[in-house]
Amino acid sequence: MKRKLVALTGAGISAESGIPTFRDSGGLWEGHRVEDVATPEGWMRNPGLVLDFYNQRRKRAREVEPNRGHYVFAELEEYFDVTIVTQNVDNLHERAGSSKVIHLHGSLFESRSTMDELLVYSIEGWELKVGDLCEKGFQLRPNIVWFGEMVPMMEVAAEIAGEADVFIVAGTSMVVYPAAGLIGYVRREVPKFIVDPNKPQLSDAPDIQFITEKASTGMEKVKKILIADY
Ligand code: OAD
Repeated sequence: MKRKLVALTGAGISAESGIPTFRDSGGLWEGHRVEDVATPEGWMRNPGLVLDFYNQRRKRAREVEPNRGHYVFAELEEYFDVTIVTQNVDNLHERAGSSKVIHLHGSLFESRSTMDELLVYSIEGWELKVGDLCEKGFQLRPNIVWFGEMVPMMEVAAEIAGEADVFIVAGTSMVVYPAAGLIGYVRREVPKFIVDPNKPQLSDAPDIQFITEKASTGMEKVKKILIADY
């Protein structure tokens, strides 16, 4: 049986594909305040603005391609039982060929009912508009976890992290919880790698191997180390 490799990825894994990270852009997301576009309050104030913000990001995500970082994760499936827990709402891991991807913060390519969170639909084109309704007649919103909302997939992700034989963190500043806490569920003796050109802040990091590089070259290095060890 293959050993279990679990990864936590964030905006940095998609940076080389041309999707800007959150915190490298001065606290603004494409010129918007986080409170305006990624909170339930922002949605109540101006749903049109929020829909447009995600429409633009969806459009962009459809135009870009996965990079080596994403592909290396897919290639590792030859050697490991790989599960990727991503904070990203793009689908570049899937497009690179990864078969088990958990989206902690939801997906750009899904909408959901504002009345019933279990009514989830896939978005075929790039646009979701005011007036697009669920089957019960309520406005649709992006199926994205906003600040102040529960992270329903966290429980599943924590359980999987607890079973990891290898753990990789790639391209996340590790400042948004509960996602950043995932590493806390990984068993102590498990080898851990962090791939990021800037060292993320970690309070207790005794046996973590830091690869301070971009995801593309950094993940190639991790793959080499893991395969040599295989
Ligand atoms: P951040 O923007 O906070 O962090 C991006 C990380 O990627 C930083 O540590 C960068 O150093 C690193 N980075 C930049 N370029 C890189 C590259 N080429 N290769 C590898 N790493 C690179 O993004 P996240 O940690 O993903 O939440 O942010 C977490 C959450 O905060 C997001 O999911 C989003 C946001 O608020 C929601 O939307 C709910």
